[in-house]
Amino acid sequence: MTRHADGTRGEERSIDWRRIAASLVPTESTRIVIEAGAASTLGSRLAADLRLASGARAMLVVDVNAAEAAGNAVERSLREMGVAVKRLDLEANEHRKTQAEADRILAAAIGHGVDRDSPIVAVGGGLIGDLAGHAASVLLRGVPLVLVPTTLLAMVDASIGGKTAVNVPLAGGTLGRNLVGSFWPASLVVIDRETLRTLPIEEHRSGLAESLKHAWIEGETEVEWIERRAESLADPASPGHAEAIGELIATSVRFKSAVVARDPLERGERRLLNLGHTFAHAIESQPTNRLRHGEAVAIGMVAAAAVAESVARAEAGTAARIRAVASRLGLPTCLEDGAALAALRAAMGFDKKRSGARLRLIIPRRPGQIEMVEAPPESAVEAGWRAVGAG
Ligand SMILES: NC(=O)c1ccc[n+]([C@@H]2O[C@H](COP(=O)([O-])OP(=O)(O)OC[C@H]3O[C@@H](n4cnc5c(N)ncnc54)[C@H](O)[C@@H]3O)[C@@H](O)[C@H]2O)c1
Repeated sequence: MTRHADGTRGEERSIDWRRIAASLVPTESTRIVIEAGAASTLGSRLAADLRLASGARAMLVVDVNAAEAAGNAVERSLREMGVAVKRLDLEANEHRKTQAEADRILAAAIGHGVDRDSPIVAVGGGLIGDLAGHAASVLLRGVPLVLVPTTLLAMVDASIGGKTAVNVPLAGGTLGRNLVGSFWPASLVVIDRETLRTLPIEEHRSGLAESLKHAWIEGETEVEWIERRAESLADPASPGHAEAIGELIATSVRFKSAVVARDPLERGERRLLNLGHTFAHAIESQPTNRLRHGEAVAIGMVAAAAVAESVARAEAGTAARIRAVASRLGLPTCLEDGAALAALRAAMGFDKKRSGARLRLIIPRRPGQIEMVEAPPESAVEAGWRAVGAG
């Protein structure tokens, strides 16, 4: 107790949140099910895993483009279990991955009369998962989240790890990517490869970029595995494709969930998963950007490797190796003509991975040896941008 000059007494108290932290998230663990056909039996899984009884309410958020491949089947399976479903179909558009769009989900859910045990079920790519996850994290101070990823990128990366986000429009038409959000782990993630059947080929290849990133963080064996199968992974019509993709999904999920389990809040090791992302987010923030997330990540990985070579942390040829396999996976490794280095460099300042005014970059030395550099020399950052065609 402290005595103030005027004779009154003050008191200080503290609450040890660490002890009760487990009760602050909606789930003790995230159950990840990888099974063909699992989306169409989601209702019975929710009944078993989330103890969702007949008469319970659920908010279903569906990516309009994933309605046919998964959304309709998920809705049917929930209704078959007697769950009262409110469904909202949304367009996956980065300019509408905003708080305003999250508010639409919140208003629909509240209008539906949800309670704190009512899940938000998101069926779609990483964008819909991030948006619905953000809504789940604040609705009634947090409701359970169920993710049914329907893009390869969301299966191998976005649905694993508990991050939610919306973008923030910034001055000058740039987009502050994922600047608002939280760690809100899903209670259940159902990965059903059959839902990829309607996915456009460019979206499929975009997902391969995040798996390539995982492989580079893991090690030489994993990188060589992808290098040996690049064409087969990139072409759904090629023999052996289904088997290779199945293995890639399982390997990526195993790898990312292990990293997240060791460092859930991205205080250490998990930061390495941002390999290529500081460049990618700068690319994606440009008003004229048309690249998909994975495409920007592929370019970002080449740029990060060029930085590593420039500061003599990686052997010459490292960027070329990434460029070669990314090209074989059908991914771009260069920006379009006229990409302005100054604007891209300035946009790096909005990245979440920065620390104060200092830029932090994750760079590859060699497969399995990825490191963080703080405040890299400006000449090296420029070399990175120039390696991918910015000028
Ligand atoms: N939370 C995380 O940890 C994390 C990690 C990586 C990326 N992300 C976020 O994920 C988003 C990128 O995810 P994405 O690559 O899945 O893109 P996306 O969600 O934007 O989907 C890409 C396109 O595919 C369409 N689509 C989705 N499923 C389909 C299907 N089965 N058939 C046909 N079309 C389908 C969508 O409508 C969209 O047009 C970005 O917003 C990114 O910030 C989040």
